[in-house]
Amino acid sequence: MSLDIFKTKMSADAASQAAIKAFQRNYEALVSGANLDIREQDITPVDALPSLADIKETHRLAKHPQAKEILAATAVLKLNGGLGTSMGLERAKSLLPVKHGITFLDLIAKQIKYLREEVKLEVPFTLMNSYNTSDDTKSYLSVKNGELLEEPHFELMQNKTPKVDAATLAPASYPANPALEWCPPGHGDFYPSLIGTGMMERLLSDGVKYLFVSNGDNLGADLEKDLLCYFATNNIPFLMECTERVAADKKGGHVARNKEGHLVLREVAQCSPEDEMDFMDIKRHKFFNTNNLWINLEALKSLLEENDGVMPLPPIKNRKTVNPRDKTSTPVFQLETTVGAAIQCFPGARAVVVPRTRFAPVKTCSDLFMLQSNAYRITDDAKVVLKSKQVPLVKLDDDHYKMADQMLNLVQCVPVLEHCKALTVRGAVKFLPGVVIMGKVAITNTQKDAKELPPEVYQNIDVML
Ligand code: UTP
Repeated sequence: MSLDIFKTKMSADAASQAAIKAFQRNYEALVSGANLDIREQDITPVDALPSLADIKETHRLAKHPQAKEILAATAVLKLNGGLGTSMGLERAKSLLPVKHGITFLDLIAKQIKYLREEVKLEVPFTLMNSYNTSDDTKSYLSVKNGELLEEPHFELMQNKTPKVDAATLAPASYPANPALEWCPPGHGDFYPSLIGTGMMERLLSDGVKYLFVSNGDNLGADLEKDLLCYFATNNIPFLMECTERVAADKKGGHVARNKEGHLVLREVAQCSPEDEMDFMDIKRHKFFNTNNLWINLEALKSLLEENDGVMPLPPIKNRKTVNPRDKTSTPVFQLETTVGAAIQCFPGARAVVVPRTRFAPVKTCSDLFMLQSNAYRITDDAKVVLKSKQVPLVKLDDDHYKMADQMLNLVQCVPVLEHCKALTVRGAVKFLPGVVIMGKVAITNTQKDAKELPPEVYQNIDVML
């Protein structure tokens, strides 16, 4: 009867029917005891995908007679509901400074402005926020880029979902801080949020058919017009942009085909220990999801009507403690879904392979450090592109730079990295203006207290502070 208690709890919190149904689906899968993994024996690898380069040869939006109509039916949505927990953030990652105090959100605003000027259309824009990110994002926008707040479809607000007590499968209880009894249900919550808030109907009635969705921290994900042309003119219900996996993304979710021949997305959390080697084999499973997704809203609506208003997404069971900062608190399951997993739900869904430039996320402080350096530059259309000949391989030590606050505190000025091949930092090193790194450099501070790195040029050298 726990399900009823969950439903009552969610209703009392004013959850929409769509959110309750989505939770129910995930919860029933959990209590059924079914194995939620996607097993290696049930999938086959995808060996080749159409490439963006080929698509650009055959699908030029600029030359298409329906270009205006296609663009007029297109909207852009940025996922902004996550906290970037791996960087220890307590507000939206999009509020971090990328360069000279300019945040991801500022750049997103600029990209949208640029797009609208270029296509001479007010392409609708939406941010998907959660209860974790909405207030901070709005108060930031009220000071800078306030026009975004005036957008007709500005905010898609995510749901909250109850944490499940791992021992009893009842709602987790935490009287010391009842807010911790809830969590965001992952970006797969995009679907129930879109339905539950009425946003899907509003977009459709405003003539929007094609929705381009991407991660808030991926500044490489601009609206690729030729890909839009391919997506729209082939009437594809759901299109996923993938990129070729390299060693660093061996944990990224990859595409495969299931026994029925449908494309599926397998995340590391859906992989049993015995399949881990195959999961991480980047030669076997070559393509991973960038989370740049194109969704045909009419196809989505039909699919939802066929499925009683619930997107049949595979649930992911995350094991945590009710208070994530207290590992001795009650063990819980957080039931989540991913937005990209819907690839398996749409008959006729496709995937394409795009260059790495369309996938430039910030997952760690080392990524942010690199982006902030002069190895990257901001283009006129507000993309961040590599300026140097090579990507500097930056490794900041996890003990002192894992959390964004720690990193921003120690790095008052990112060194000049334009000619840097690799930079390894061990220990707490303070970076002040005037440091130039060239070639391969390692800097070590074995002392407990942070040490300043004198402003100099460091070239192919190991420095002990
Ligand atoms: P991820 O959860 O994959 O990555 O979210 P992340 O933001 O790097 O977070 P951590 O460090 O793994 O915790 C990918 C995108 O989806 C959004 C995030 O804001 C990010 O833009 N997202 C995630 C949501 O909008 N809602 C969610 O519930 C979760």
